Amino acid sequence: MKILVLNGPNLNLLGTREPEIYGSETLADIEAATRSVAPEIEIEFRQTNSEAELITWIGETRGVFDGVIINPAALTHTSLGVCDALKAVADVTPAVEVHLSNTHTREEIRHKSLTAAACVGQIMGFQGFGYTLALRALLNKLNG
Ligand code: DQA
Repeated sequence: MKILVLNGPNLNLLGTREPEIYGSETLADIEAATRSVAPEIEIEFRQTNSEAELITWIGETRGVFDGVIINPAALTHTSLGVCDALKAVADVTPAVEVHLSNTHTREEIRHKSLTAAACVGQIMGFQGFGYTLALRALLNKLNG
């Protein structure tokens, strides 16, 4: 079983980025906590600030990864390209969308996700713990 965890723009800044919203864990902390849930699973964690790179990585998952956990960050609200890439591989690579913050309690522009419709489900509002929840949900989906 191979799972790819994708992180979009500015998530490399977690730890110091608006900690009252995103928590004080770094992305490395979140990665370690997520891995500890299922040490037997092969998990690859990646982060990019580039929309093009994120789209390319999603398109390359077919036949390589069994599932994807994705926090598209700001691209959630803007990127039809990320949505299309997720849809293009959804037949073999189901995705779970995760957000650290509850975007529905924030500015209106963050209320709409363009990418959620291409995912099997969405988890938000639990800061870094959401990644652990997303992994458990994805494994349940894949094993069910
Ligand atoms: C985010 C929410 C987005 O609105 C924001 O642009 C982010 C992080 C979250 O995890 O809460 O960068 O995806």
